[in-house]
Amino acid sequence: MKNDTVHLTRRYWFSASHRLHNPVLEDAENTIIYGKCNNPGGHGHNYHVEITVAGPVDQRTGMVVDLSELDSLAQREILDRFDQTNLNDDAAFGSLVPTTENLCVQIYHLVHQHWKDLPSARLARLERVRLEETSSNFFEYTGE
Ligand code: NI
Repeated sequence: MKNDTVHLTRRYWFSASHRLHNPVLEDAENTIIYGKCNNPGGHGHNYHVEITVAGPVDQRTGMVVDLSELDSLAQREILDRFDQTNLNDDAAFGSLVPTTENLCVQIYHLVHQHWKDLPSARLARLERVRLEETSSNFFEYTGE
């Protein structure tokens, strides 16, 4: 029993705008590919991001990961960085179209890179990032 893997998911929210545009392509091609999402003024989303951690329950604390540690990491690396911003201006999207697919992968890497900031999760791993763009669209990345 005591080494069973438990999955923990924590949700966060942020708002950001983007314009889907690939500068390598002609304007007409961008219009065909992205439609209204290519409008020069951009548009915004209220993103819901879920971080899933998988690991054994620490027998001392009874937890997979200390949520306050996870919250601090998410606040610092994701929310402070992306909330109320234009994603096209973010360094991560200098040469990458800020689709929600790409944002999902970026968020995964940011959490993964800062895993050492979760000392309570030393036996756990980042299982998945799920990013909801609208109530109809969501994207998931597991690092594969
Ligand atoms: Ni959009």
